[in-house]
Amino acid sequence: MQVRVEVEGGSCIATIFNNGIATVMWLDDVKVDPSRWRQGVGTALMEAAERLTEVYRVDCIELVVNTENTAAKGLYAKAGFKPTKKEHYRKILKQLEVRNNATILSDMD
Ligand SMILES: CC(C)(COP(=O)(O)OP(=O)(O)OC[C@H]1O[C@@H](n2cnc3c(N)ncnc32)[C@H](O)[C@@H]1OP(=O)(O)O)[C@@H](O)C(=O)NCCC(=O)NCCS
Repeated sequence: MQVRVEVEGGSCIATIFNNGIATVMWLDDVKVDPSRWRQGVGTALMEAAERLTEVYRVDCIELVVNTENTAAKGLYAKAGFKPTKKEHYRKILKQLEVRNNATILSDMD
């Protein structure tokens, strides 16, 4: 199932599923309004997502982040996330759509 997590000034999408071993909350599209950056909104968003884990009995939260995204990496570290040993793989099946010069499915994550 998918839930949109929102706080004032920020939002993300939480996808909750069971992978046979654990119930996982996968976070995507984490974003804060640029006018509100560095004011604790991202942290509040991570806390809101974490509160949902109790409702859905989630065992762990996962996400991917661009290695160059210093702000996001700082946010996740502050929220208690640790890097894993996994590499992120992707097989593209459809031609990518280009919107505002940004490629959908680019390495924003
Ligand atoms: C990443 C993002 C969500 C952070 O949101 P935010 O509201 O600014 O985060 P917070 O104010 O709660 O900051 C939490 C911590 O993140 C780190 N951080 C945030 N912005 C930072 C920056 N520009 N440079 C370095 N560290 C930063 C800091 O450790 C900060 O803690 P501190 O303020 O006590 O030092 C926001 O920058 C954003 O929307 N970026 C564009 C979209 C994006 O990259 N999303 C992530 C996809 S994985």
